[in-house]
Amino acid sequence: MDMRILKCTVNGKPVQVGYDPRESLLDTLRNRLGLTSVKRGCEVGECGACTVLIDGVATDTCLYLTDWAQGRDILTVEGLQAADGTLHPVQQAFIDDFAVQCGFCTPGIIMSAVEIVNTGKTYTRDELRKLLSGHLCRCTGYENIINAAADAIERVNGSGRPKPAPGPVVVPPRPEDVPDGAPLKPELVAGAE
Ligand code: FES
Ligand code: FES
Repeated sequence: MDMRILKCTVNGKPVQVGYDPRESLLDTLRNRLGLTSVKRGCEVGECGACTVLIDGVATDTCLYLTDWAQGRDILTVEGLQAADGTLHPVQQAFIDDFAVQCGFCTPGIIMSAVEIVNTGKTYTRDELRKLLSGHLCRCTGYENIINAAADAIERVNGSGRPKPAPGPVVVPPRPEDVPDGAPLKPELVAGAE
């Protein structure tokens, strides 16, 4: 099949690159442009490892034909650092909150977190879980990933952390359960929300 030329912007720079019209954007970014932060995981849109921003929208590139990317603005993790090497606040939050384990899922999740941060809104932890639910982490460090996303929102938008998960409920003991002379101490109900 004849090759075509993709003309688009990748990480702020104009790019022209040949591609096979049957090719996914995942293959073009990794194999032709050397952007190896874009990970090949499931290749069926389930794991989110191949996520980049296309015109600001987090997109699974394994399901996205390169042909559709003509004229688009593509951002990968390689394009997040400032010119002086300073990491993007989302990248720094992932480091500071220990949200990186083996790192395979991390670039895709970071790009979704950048999309979330760019909305300028704040979210509850449950909302962040839903927004990031398209990503699978084989190392299962989900709590720290949510912490990092919340931290990144705080760093960029400075409008307060999402509400923390509710703590245990404090229940005062019934007077008849307290032995004579013992101080009245509330008790914690384990696992209550
Ligand atoms: S490799 Fe694209 S979603 Fe898994
Ligand atoms: S950090 Fe290892 S797969 Fe997520």
